[in-house]
Amino acid sequence: MPEGKFHGKRIVLGVTGSIAAYKAVSLVRTLVREGGDVSVVMTDSATRFVAPLTFEVLSQHPVARDLFSNHEVMPHLTLSESADLFLIAPATANTLTKCALGLADDLLSTMVLTARCPLIVAPAMDGGMWDHPTVVEHTRVLRNRGVIVLDPEEGPLASGHHGVGRFPEEEKILGAMISVLLRRCDWAGHRVLVSAGPTREPIDAVRFISNPSSGKMGYALARAAADRGAEVVLVSGPTGLPKPAGVDFVSVVTAEDMHQALAAKFSWATMLVMAAAVGDFRPRYPSRDKIKKKTWTGEPVEVEETIDILKALSPQRTHQLMVGFAAETSNLVENGKEKLEQKDLDLVVINSVAGPQSAFGDDTNEVILLTRNGEITCLDRMPKRALADRILDKVQTLTARVRQDIGRPSVQARSV
Ligand code: CTP
Repeated sequence: MPEGKFHGKRIVLGVTGSIAAYKAVSLVRTLVREGGDVSVVMTDSATRFVAPLTFEVLSQHPVARDLFSNHEVMPHLTLSESADLFLIAPATANTLTKCALGLADDLLSTMVLTARCPLIVAPAMDGGMWDHPTVVEHTRVLRNRGVIVLDPEEGPLASGHHGVGRFPEEEKILGAMISVLLRRCDWAGHRVLVSAGPTREPIDAVRFISNPSSGKMGYALARAAADRGAEVVLVSGPTGLPKPAGVDFVSVVTAEDMHQALAAKFSWATMLVMAAAVGDFRPRYPSRDKIKKKTWTGEPVEVEETIDILKALSPQRTHQLMVGFAAETSNLVENGKEKLEQKDLDLVVINSVAGPQSAFGDDTNEVILLTRNGEITCLDRMPKRALADRILDKVQTLTARVRQDIGRPSVQARSV
């Protein structure tokens, strides 16, 4: 018998209290037919729509419902830790919101916090709820965190109304599952060093020079590479973002700290993705104490240049692929090209930091990718996590080419 699409994959399916719960029955049949090892978790309200026995018969596994089960020790850990994919289908507005907030008041929502595999959410809700600002906001939070939240369909709803809220078509859910499961390992074998966030260059004990970088783009790249099977070390300036799952994390403050941390890992890495907004200047004589207002003479703070980390590391490359970013306010491609050449990069991700559409801090971004051989790709505005995947897709196409290129003269001597 030919192997199914989900052969050998452990799938946890969370079913919540929507009328569309009956459609999860057909979904389980399909997943099992395609070779998936499916464990179903139901919320209490889901059991009012479909009997757990239905899922037990089809999945050949007991349905998990209770955080405090007498039969199994900590089911939220044993099930979710071993899963390849976590799917919540159908997901009510209540469950979607709980996932975004990290609430854990039943087995399913607790498992969302313990799972380390990709999460897909297939919402189903009545007209008006999908467009409610709370649901819109929490959907955005989840998507920015890397969760795949499918769009519900438009059409007649169980209430008799017409609107957006219908459970996504099974084909759409299966498509998302396939792309996640097949894609997951396409970065296995890569060791990716990512820098993110701003640096802080101290003036005195409480004041510093910095920039408004949020770190979101670098964190999204680190998370995307890890999700796709790479080993990832994230070196981050101060951001306040939670450390991404599945990533080794090094926290730094100044440009010099960041340089040291990256240099220490450079020979290990197959690739450096330099998304950090490294400070270019630092006070030449930082004070260890807080400078008192009354002792300040009005003299400007004297600054000196920090080390250019990419310029310092590029000459040391043996096999590493180098990806840099360019934060520009004008002449994007021209300035990006100059940075690519000066820093001997394989790819530069050019973003605009001018005006209200600035890449700094926003959850979305639009960028231009410029490769060493002059190939230009414009990526439209999208969530930074989705963008991270598109950037990785581009990098993937360069890896073979770059391996052949290492050892040849630097880019200044090549045609671009
Ligand atoms: N970068 C670096 N070390 C620095 C400054 C920047 O490695 N001291 C890296 C950034 O992480 C980014 C790339 O260089 O990948 C370009 O950074 P950007 O701030 O756009 O440009 P700069 O090189 O700082 O030049 P300028 O400020 O003149 O635009």
